[in-house]
Amino acid sequence: MDHERELLMIPGPTIVSPRVLRAISRTVYSHGSGEFVEAYSEALTLQKKLFMTEGVPFMLSGSGTLGMEAAASNLIEKGDHILCVENGFFGEKWAEILPPHGGVVERLTFEWGKGIDLKLLEERLSSGKYKAVTVEHVDTSTGIANPIQKIGELMKNVDGLYIVDSVCGIGGMPLKMDEWGIDFCLSGSQKAIGAPPGTSLFCLNDKAWKVIEARKTPIVDYYTNLKKWRPIMEDPRKYFATPATGMILGMLEALKIIHEEGLEARWKRHQIYSEAFQAGIKRMGLKSFPDENNLASTLSVPSIPEGVNDAELRNIMMKKYNIIIAGGLGKIAGKTIRIGHMGSDMINDLTATISAMEMGLFEMGYVKKPGNGIGAAMEVFSKKS
Ligand SMILES: Cc1ncc(COP(=O)(O)O)c(C=O)c1O
Repeated sequence: MDHERELLMIPGPTIVSPRVLRAISRTVYSHGSGEFVEAYSEALTLQKKLFMTEGVPFMLSGSGTLGMEAAASNLIEKGDHILCVENGFFGEKWAEILPPHGGVVERLTFEWGKGIDLKLLEERLSSGKYKAVTVEHVDTSTGIANPIQKIGELMKNVDGLYIVDSVCGIGGMPLKMDEWGIDFCLSGSQKAIGAPPGTSLFCLNDKAWKVIEARKTPIVDYYTNLKKWRPIMEDPRKYFATPATGMILGMLEALKIIHEEGLEARWKRHQIYSEAFQAGIKRMGLKSFPDENNLASTLSVPSIPEGVNDAELRNIMMKKYNIIIAGGLGKIAGKTIRIGHMGSDMINDLTATISAMEMGLFEMGYVKKPGNGIGAAMEVFSKKS
């Protein structure tokens, strides 16, 4: 089997445009060379445009988790109370990341895949005791999208910092950092941004920076100390630690692709992908795991019906049709599958995936007559794209 022609339809890493791959495979530049410095500066400018912020952009070697760690090590001091709003596997990570940095975590937990109750959140916020609130834009474990703009409205009434993990949102779904009042927003290269894994992207606004400046205790971490990195982000000729030059060139190309398409057009394209996928799975007889009023556009997470073995389905899709999808994560492993449809993915990638799913379910005896699911998706694509 030609692995280079597999369709990688997991919710990150995703298929990467050959333009990005070519950029990465150019020669290894000196990180002090004019070519590289210019590329890094341009990539940082395009990152700000993507996050829709006038804040400071950071583009560092690492994965999405590095951004979470950077938020913790720079913004949190011993005894700070943090409210972690969680409704999935990734939201729950904050409660692991923050305490070693001294944070006192209070969790506002909702069922996996269910929407956030904003009234409850508002009540919790009214205590006024939180230094920060964390929330996932999209929790990739369940395919739920959280109301980041609405939470931003609530956060405007309190002092605390608003920290948003948009690892699986930005580049595929609306996120307006400044307009929505987000103080620290983080993402990763490998999902809707359309680059390979390995680059951590996050932005801070003035409010977050002032919190760093006003710390009573020094930042203990060395690599994630943003005071050390900021001068490089403002002038990439400077040095703190060697940037992954190839990955930065790839990021620049991915960001150029995003802005050539335009953010609005990109959000709409992802919305159509989601609608088509939902139509397809429903017509096959499957249900969405996440609450349908709060669906992410970047991935779909169908529940696996009784009697269907998800590993068998994934195996047929991989072995026979060369399409890789992901299994469920954490406590919903075996009960769900996860399909990414974001970044550089095109309609033909999605139609192939939906068809392969339907053929797999037909082979397994769940779908009685193949073609209805893909037919429903085709209708959405034909009418809306
Ligand atoms: C919502 C979300 N947050 C954080 C992460 C962690 O990112 P990484 O695996 O790039 O460290 C992921 C990874 O899938 C994610 O989906």
